[in-house]
Amino acid sequence: MVIKPMIRSNICMNAHPVGCEKEVQDQIVYLKKQPKLINGPKKVLIIGSSTGYGLASRISVAYGSGAQTLGVAFEREASEKRTASMGWYNTIAFEAQAKVDGLYAESINGDAFGNEIKAETVAKLKADLGQVDLVVYSLASPVRTDPATGIQYKSVLKPIGESFEAKSMNPETGEIKEFSIEPASEDEVVHTIKVMGGEDWKLWIQALLKAGVLAPGAKTVAYSYIGPEVTRAVYRDGTIGKAKEDLEHTAASLTALLKRVEGQAFVSVNKALVTRASAVIPVVPLYLALLFQVMKKEGIHEGCIEQMYRLFSQRLYAGKTVPTDDQGRIRLDDWELREDVQAKVNKLWTQVNSANIGELGDVEGYHDDFLRIHGFGRPDIDYDAEVDPIR
Ligand SMILES: NC(=O)c1ccc[n+]([C@@H]2O[C@H](COP(=O)([O-])OP(=O)(O)OC[C@H]3O[C@@H](n4cnc5c(N)ncnc54)[C@H](O)[C@@H]3O)[C@@H](O)[C@H]2O)c1
Repeated sequence: MVIKPMIRSNICMNAHPVGCEKEVQDQIVYLKKQPKLINGPKKVLIIGSSTGYGLASRISVAYGSGAQTLGVAFEREASEKRTASMGWYNTIAFEAQAKVDGLYAESINGDAFGNEIKAETVAKLKADLGQVDLVVYSLASPVRTDPATGIQYKSVLKPIGESFEAKSMNPETGEIKEFSIEPASEDEVVHTIKVMGGEDWKLWIQALLKAGVLAPGAKTVAYSYIGPEVTRAVYRDGTIGKAKEDLEHTAASLTALLKRVEGQAFVSVNKALVTRASAVIPVVPLYLALLFQVMKKEGIHEGCIEQMYRLFSQRLYAGKTVPTDDQGRIRLDDWELREDVQAKVNKLWTQVNSANIGELGDVEGYHDDFLRIHGFGRPDIDYDAEVDPIR
């Protein structure tokens, strides 16, 4: 099969197996060049391990600390006619390289929100690793079925209270248009919290504690986002922001639960980056194009792997205490939200239009990242060559 990107409404429907493998390799190479983590984790469970921040977390602990990793993700296998999802290929590539490097790396594919995958994970941990000293929770999903009731919830990305008008960019063409989103209903707020809030994280930690598979001093970390003024109404003050607030509050209740093993729960507020999840959030592609332009000029741009290595080396395993803000959150969005960076982004935001976006924003950087996470747009791959999608 000749595999070229199939993009519809900011979603890439396919992935290139060799490109994904090379993307994983690049992240591993980056990690191999960094100083090792001091007192880093040795056995790690990553929930949402196949793409974006979860994959970068997995690579960081495996290659930064020699950790044995068990990953959980929900990815699509290839067929004769259709490629697998990028996370499928990433997982296979990571496991293969980890094994070559003598690192335990196994993965479970299925719905992490359900009881079955939790039970399968516990059984696998008991059989293979005994106890883990870190649990990374990095799920991003538009739907969740509550295992207690069987009810399926869907998350929405909407403002609350009043409609939201802003600029938005078509990342394919660079065209900028005004758009408007109507406010969410009360039900939609509740549903979004059900999907992306802290309930499932808590269920995981309860299940792991009950099974006795958390080591003394075990840590758990989940990822959040706050973001700038220009996305505030639709992100932090919107439905997804309510879910993130819930996730952040859950960290405190999990730390109380983890007292039993003298463990701790953290939320890390990460930088906005191009991942499968963020590409579909309105306003985000334009914001990222402007942000990347500014951060690259300042020499402070990071991708998922740089962010996650910084999380583990300079926050979670930096010393006896973990540096946090006054609400107990780890902040990796410190450079993104720097006053001078945001002032420059805001200025560009007021000036930008379809005619000058190529000059004011890093559209190419955005588009390149978007293609690369799906294994496309790499100069070292011949995309006209036949490749077997089945891995
Ligand atoms: N991308 C950003 O800009 C950004 C910034 C800050 C925080 N975050 C947060 O980081 C976390 C991870 O986001 P990402 O951007 O890396 O997303 P992503 O889409 O790249 O990764 C999501 C992961 O969740 C897994 N997953 C989804 N549904 C699942 C299910 N039902 N069962 C098992 N696995 C499932 C996927 O397989 C994948 O491994 C999210 O909480 C997100 O809000 C993202």
